[in-house]
Amino acid sequence: MDYSNDLIIGIDLGTATTEAAVFRDGKADMILNFNEKIVTPSVVGLDESGNFVIGEKAKAQYIMAPDRTAIEIKRKMGSKDKIYLGRQSFTPVELSSMLLSYVKRYASQQLGEEITRAVISVPAYFDDIQRQAVVEAGEKAGLKVERIINEPTAAALSYGIGHMEEESHILVYDLGGGTFDVTLLELFGGVLEVKASSGDNELGGKDFDEKLIEWFRSRFEEKHNVSLEGDTYALARLKEQAEQCKISLSTREEVQVQIPLLTEKDGVPLGLDETITRSQFEEMIRELIDRTHHPILTVLGDSKISKDRLDLILLVGGSTRIPMVSRDIEEFLGKEPKVEVHPDYSVAEGAAIQAGIIGGTIDSEDGIVITDVNPYTLGIRAMRDYNDDYMSVIIPRNVTIPVKRHQIYYTSWENQNEAEIQVYQGESRTASRNHCLGKFKVSGIPDGPAGEEVIDVTFSYDQNGLLQVSAVITSTGEEACVHIDMMESGVEEKIDVSKWKDSSYADDYRSILRRSEKFIKKAKSGPKNEEMVDRVRELKDLVYQLKKAILEENLEEADYLEEDIQDLIEEAGE
Ligand SMILES: Nc1ncnc2c1ncn2[C@@H]1O[C@H](COP(=O)(O)OP(=O)(O)OP(=O)(O)O)[C@@H](O)[C@H]1O
Ligand SMILES: [Mg+2]
Repeated sequence: MDYSNDLIIGIDLGTATTEAAVFRDGKADMILNFNEKIVTPSVVGLDESGNFVIGEKAKAQYIMAPDRTAIEIKRKMGSKDKIYLGRQSFTPVELSSMLLSYVKRYASQQLGEEITRAVISVPAYFDDIQRQAVVEAGEKAGLKVERIINEPTAAALSYGIGHMEEESHILVYDLGGGTFDVTLLELFGGVLEVKASSGDNELGGKDFDEKLIEWFRSRFEEKHNVSLEGDTYALARLKEQAEQCKISLSTREEVQVQIPLLTEKDGVPLGLDETITRSQFEEMIRELIDRTHHPILTVLGDSKISKDRLDLILLVGGSTRIPMVSRDIEEFLGKEPKVEVHPDYSVAEGAAIQAGIIGGTIDSEDGIVITDVNPYTLGIRAMRDYNDDYMSVIIPRNVTIPVKRHQIYYTSWENQNEAEIQVYQGESRTASRNHCLGKFKVSGIPDGPAGEEVIDVTFSYDQNGLLQVSAVITSTGEEACVHIDMMESGVEEKIDVSKWKDSSYADDYRSILRRSEKFIKKAKSGPKNEEMVDRVRELKDLVYQLKKAILEENLEEADYLEEDIQDLIEEAGE
């Protein structure tokens, strides 16, 4: 089917809320959902009869039926976690795709044509695996994902399109429901150039809610000498009230929270009645707000733009309505932040503008041009020696994308016929501390002395923030390559490997698996340090992979994993 003339919409798939927009008649218009609202809660549930409910309806059923309602799904994107709605389990990708297909339906109705293409925004600080998960969710929903755009870049675009003549350095501070992003851009001659991005994927309104929940909960539990542990209904009510209370504290100095019936004790109903002041709340979230400072310093440092050269600080995301947030930014950067774009709509608007550029509704001659960067350092685990574990950087963080870089590596020992390319993303100099995106083998390296054969490794990072890696043996031209894709991504479903012992190959691996078990047991009872925790985590993953390989009778892979496990245990001095 040829979709080339179809409209492309922009979608901001948020942790708390989802919005969609379309670029037409020279501007980005927000699209109304079936309830004629712009903002849709990012909530998915099953109703009593087992039908899906999405958005407002799902949010409304949350306090009554938290066990079959999923909130804050985006936090889990890219992970292997299962989300239960009643007894049925779903992946984060599946539930996100339910949200996206809801958007697709209402947008199709509002715009009067079947919508099949979208630009979807993601936090700038999402890694490759999280981005892949979003692409997959889009595709599952029947949307061709034309581009993944970084949320702060989108917000800056919605500002930039109306200020094309300006020359300025803009810092976008995006604090939403679940993620924090900070991006520094330069607007010059109609070009919006991202200089650097950083952030924290686990910082947002949800975490502020949790501070309040903790506070209310401990006061309630103490007062009534009860525990709310495992009381999902009470905790869901508390969550709802905590968020309301937080929002009220943005405009009021003091808020009273009353929940007439929170739980029961020996048949007696117990209620909650507490008053909290804004300054108490601010004290609770101080450490969370402080966590925004480091990423801000990172983008200033990486872009080599000092804070006094910032012309505009743009606030994006619902949580920037907290007065303490803008006060903190002003104190930290010495400049008052501005609400020049709509904190809730600008990301979807920017995604729609990007969609307009791709679809041709915005003329590339007169329109704004944008460039973005990769937020993480990318590289491989150095191959000099089996035990080497340092990160050999191929693409440093915050370079303009798309980007293609290559690096040359040499064989490490005589007659080395194989090399393993392990691809990592992250800022640690120790490769295994970073996030492993995938690995593949290059085989068929001709015999020869150490250092004679050359392997040329190339990383291509595209405009969506997705990576492709290839390696060529220079002397033979033999190539191996990997798209860093779902194969290695966190969304792969875990299978039950407990039956590995039934395999006819089990005996061959019993000894290494027993050694692993012993190692893990010993590590658990021994002193814990960061290195050990990492090692155990890695070992557990390898053990799982090995059992899986045994069950699948993939013996080549199993032997290979056995070697990895041996190395890991020996490295730890066992
Ligand atoms: N007036 C307010 N004061 C404080 N917090 C608010 C206010 N209004 C909304 N919020 C919070 O903002 C968050 C939602 O913001 P937003 O819709 O920008 O997030 P999101 O885009 O869904 O999340 P993310 O971008 O992190 O994925 C929620 O945690 C909500 O409680
Ligand atoms: Mg957002």
